[in-house]
Amino acid sequence: MTMLPQPTVSRTLIGADGPPSSPLAQHALAEEILDLKRRKNAVILAHYYQTGDIQQVADHIGDSLALAQAAERTDAPIILFCGVHFMAETAKILNPQRKLLLPDMTAGCSLADSAPPEKFRAFVNAHPDHVVVSYINCSAEVKAMSDIICTSSNAVRVVNSIPVDHPILFAPDKHLGAYVQRVTGRRMLLWDGTCEVHVNISIDKLKLLKGKYPEAKLIAHPECPSHILAEADHVGSTSSLLDFVKRDTGKTFIVATEAGILYNMRAAVPHKTLIPAPAYADNECACSECPYMKQNTLAKVRDALLLEQPEIVLDEEVRLRAHRALRRMLELG
Ligand code: 13P
Ligand code: SF4
Repeated sequence: MTMLPQPTVSRTLIGADGPPSSPLAQHALAEEILDLKRRKNAVILAHYYQTGDIQQVADHIGDSLALAQAAERTDAPIILFCGVHFMAETAKILNPQRKLLLPDMTAGCSLADSAPPEKFRAFVNAHPDHVVVSYINCSAEVKAMSDIICTSSNAVRVVNSIPVDHPILFAPDKHLGAYVQRVTGRRMLLWDGTCEVHVNISIDKLKLLKGKYPEAKLIAHPECPSHILAEADHVGSTSSLLDFVKRDTGKTFIVATEAGILYNMRAAVPHKTLIPAPAYADNECACSECPYMKQNTLAKVRDALLLEQPEIVLDEEVRLRAHRALRRMLELG
């Protein structure tokens, strides 16, 4: 069994961004998860927005694209996806012969929820000459109605792969869509969806923060509205933001995305100062947290492995059509 380091000081195991709880109880839970994982030959995939304690028991930590690729590659009979519903569904679409578990089946996403399948079908049917590009943050049904999927890592590349004379429908994130439109210069019709976390970053508080730390570089996820991106020194997916703080010579960064990424960033560049971009709402961490991502806990991870549920089950016809759109993205590399 893989042994975890002993929790000598509070937070050593669970990380500064993890939930408050007794370190010994967290440690025992983590040991139990590692044991279950080994006995069941399961693999745990975790998104960067998961809390530090969950990232510590994961086999792969990454952005949406890297996790989709890891889900496709694994031959483990059980995949436990620590993220939100559309991510676990994506893993199931790519790897249908595996049992796909999600710690909390109600962990949704405001972007995926903004595009109910029937409304989306009407939108697509109203524009039959358009190529339908859907951001991976959508349901399997929406993926099944799409020509190609993209993530925030490859959205520009995916749109550039479409012949220039083809108009494009882009869903469901209007801010990512507008960003891609600005970079590629393509004609795109945008679905009116947003990520409730990234639109909650306060531009006024951000400007005050920039005034306080004039040397700081602002790095932002493209799900942020254009007034935030206009202030940014670097725009990119979660993994691109992480790479940037490692590569860049700057010492101080304001990070405009979900605060879970700070767990990984602080471990990668402990000597640099990382400041979460402030949210409009005054919450406990004064930062941006995705309530859906944070529905997952170590206890739910343990229960899911133990009981082998909740399990993602998909209609095979939907899965096959969604798979075709996902494959087109993955074949672009
Ligand atoms: P990436 O990890 O692809 O950057 O996506 C961020 C996100 O919002 C996932 O829900
Ligand atoms: Fe959805 Fe936004 Fe949460 Fe990502 S951060 S899962 S896009 S609500």
